[in-house]
Amino acid sequence: MAIDIHKNDQSKQSAFNYDDFNFGTQPTDHLFLSEYDHGNWRSHRIVPTQHFSLSPFALCLHYGQTVFEGMKAFRQDNGKVHIFRPEKHHQRFNRSLERMCMPPIEKELFINALEELVRLEQHWIPQDKEVSLYIRPFVFATEPRLGVKVADNYTFCITCTPMGLYYPKPVRVKVETEYVRAAEGGVGYVKCGGNYGAAFYPTQQAKEQGFDQIIWTDAKTHQFLEEAGTMNMMVMLKDTLITPRLSTSILDGVTRNSIIQIARDKGMNVEERAISYQELEDAFNAGNRVELFGVGTAAVISPVYSIQIQGKDYSPYIEDGAIMFQLKTALENIRKGRAKDTHSWNHFI
Ligand code: COI
Repeated sequence: MAIDIHKNDQSKQSAFNYDDFNFGTQPTDHLFLSEYDHGNWRSHRIVPTQHFSLSPFALCLHYGQTVFEGMKAFRQDNGKVHIFRPEKHHQRFNRSLERMCMPPIEKELFINALEELVRLEQHWIPQDKEVSLYIRPFVFATEPRLGVKVADNYTFCITCTPMGLYYPKPVRVKVETEYVRAAEGGVGYVKCGGNYGAAFYPTQQAKEQGFDQIIWTDAKTHQFLEEAGTMNMMVMLKDTLITPRLSTSILDGVTRNSIIQIARDKGMNVEERAISYQELEDAFNAGNRVELFGVGTAAVISPVYSIQIQGKDYSPYIEDGAIMFQLKTALENIRKGRAKDTHSWNHFI
């Protein structure tokens, strides 16, 4: 599984302003490419970051065969760089590809490509700032044909960008009971482009009303919380961490999985189960302390300071002593090498 490497002799890194940048606007110097043709992935290569050449008939542009992942590489306190849980991301990538009738990527190719690329781009991760390297693997259908069909040709690309905080401040959300993100049996658990594009309209309306994000509810009854599109949702109610159980309409978040594991390791009660907005309202109305937060690769742990349910605003607990901050610190400590990585999540390059 040889990967040809063509180095870019001009890095944009030294001119990059780490103190003032927007997420996803600055690609690093190289990207990985491979093409699928006649049943095989071939021509694996790392090249200077460049634009694609694509037929206007490329099937991805018309019928949405595009799948992506989002993952991160971190620099530890001792300077070593690792990729966080690449195998877990690889499994999810292939689940998404399968659901979209796209060819799987072998684990060896996925991991080798990531290692080679991150080795070349690791100087983009500063030692002294809260900046990681966001890695975006994606596959899209390139076959030029307007007929509605599963494509025969694809490109697999991995690109990287520096990343600070996706949500720099606690967020205000609303529970959405009109629009639907994903229905049972659909593609909600898949990281396909269409899931995100379809959420834009309701999210835009919510933003105009002063919300940062939507919490989606189930498509059948609109009573049960699902996820927020850019992150899974978790609730801390009394001494129990509760998160909606995975289904065909919820993304199997790697951060979700990691936080559940950390909470269980700490001896906390964790429940993966249906949680209705009514249960949340009852808890708020009873005066209970309710913590609500999103978890995701980009979002990490994003506290919710305000939630609107059926037109009524409630204020989750976001003070310093909140459990979610302990969970966040525990995750950061593993990534930074300050705590033992008992589950071997850090994949050093
Ligand atoms: C991620 O957390 O990696 C995501 O894909 C969410 C968003 C940046 C699209």
